[in-house]
Amino acid sequence: MKKKRKAVSLSPQLEQLLSSNAGLEDGLRTNKKLLQDLAGAVKALSDAYVEPEKCDWKALYKNTAAVNAYLLYYLPVNLVKLFPLLDELAKGGAFDVAQRQHMSVLDIGCGPGTFMLGLLEYICRAGRPEASFVESISLTGIDRSKDNLAAADRLIRQYCSPGCLPQGMTVTASFRQGSVLSPDFLNSPELFDIIIAGNVLAELQGAALPSCLSALTEHLAPDGVLIIIDPGTRRAAQRLLELRNMLLQHTELRLFAPCLCAAACPLQDDSGQWCHEKLFWQPTEAVRQIDGVLGFTKEKGIKYSFLSFVKKDVDRLSPYADLAHENIWRVGSYVIKNKGEDRLWVCNGRERLLLRRLERNSSETNSDFEQAERGDIVFVDGAVPRAVFHDLPKEAVFRIIH
Ligand SMILES: C[S@@+](CC[C@H](N)C(=O)[O-])C[C@H]1O[C@@H](n2cnc3c(N)ncnc32)[C@H](O)[C@@H]1O
Repeated sequence: MKKKRKAVSLSPQLEQLLSSNAGLEDGLRTNKKLLQDLAGAVKALSDAYVEPEKCDWKALYKNTAAVNAYLLYYLPVNLVKLFPLLDELAKGGAFDVAQRQHMSVLDIGCGPGTFMLGLLEYICRAGRPEASFVESISLTGIDRSKDNLAAADRLIRQYCSPGCLPQGMTVTASFRQGSVLSPDFLNSPELFDIIIAGNVLAELQGAALPSCLSALTEHLAPDGVLIIIDPGTRRAAQRLLELRNMLLQHTELRLFAPCLCAAACPLQDDSGQWCHEKLFWQPTEAVRQIDGVLGFTKEKGIKYSFLSFVKKDVDRLSPYADLAHENIWRVGSYVIKNKGEDRLWVCNGRERLLLRRLERNSSETNSDFEQAERGDIVFVDGAVPRAVFHDLPKEAVFRIIH
């Protein structure tokens, strides 16, 4: 029986740091006007993300209300998405942050340092005793906005101020202003263990993009990982699929997740469904309050899409060597509850199946079915093909294995 996933959260230290950088020393509870203004700025950012081509981003990053809204709302919401990705990379034997004594990290389109902070938070504060193993982390942030780089520099310095990191750990951070679409944007022979592109690549278009992807591949260490994170919207997921195909066709990188194999995506020509995850978390106080004003629902879970690629030859299914590979699937939806039956989508990277289990067919061998969540790796055996779904009879096996 599956244990319910632990909801991820930000440490009180980081939450406090974000609040003080956004000028919120006394919290939002007592200041209704401030809350209304912040909620207005979050709404304006949200509208800008829907139609990014209409937004003057340069002006937005200089606008104090927008910057504070990002720090208090979008930064925490984005940052926590990194945690399950790192967990999955470690479990699958692709990249284990906890096993690295030294780590160099590149964050492209780093904004105010969201994912650099996310990595530090994952290592230092997520209750990981192994944090003491990591001795040094070298962070490099690239962004075309000088204001965002200054914010990232400030936040990372404060996060790492004396006494705040685990004993024996050092963090160095450097920042470079520039566009990732300009030739030679890295302009150094440096290799990185982790390259993160968060909420940036899906928005980039044009002829320069393939050379940006080649440069990222070239600068990834042989046992490194490239992580791409974008919103869980249809538009971003479709764009991610294009990036997935570009990376598979034009680089030597190997796809690690979410797909269990690098075949043609079964959602490629589906206009109604798109691949995304939903992360359950403990929202920060600011997110909770802002959601309360706007009617947004980030507190109920955060949708996102992602890709992770590695250079080395990792057998994605090797942790399940004792199981037949054709029986291993990844859950791609929540459990859809209907009268007398439940349904669930699973995908193995080349095929998507809609599974159905009638209530009366619930049994000990398939009892994990109602517990399944997006992103779970499951073992399915004995499903019977019908016209639009595969039926799970009583004797079928449905077991969550990861
Ligand atoms: C939506 S923000 C994401 C910030 C951060 N990665 C996060 O997820 O919270 C997009 C960032 O990408 C930067 N950006 C957009 N196009 C870029 C480009 N061509 N080169 C470098 N940075 C770029 C923007 O300045 C901005 O800071």
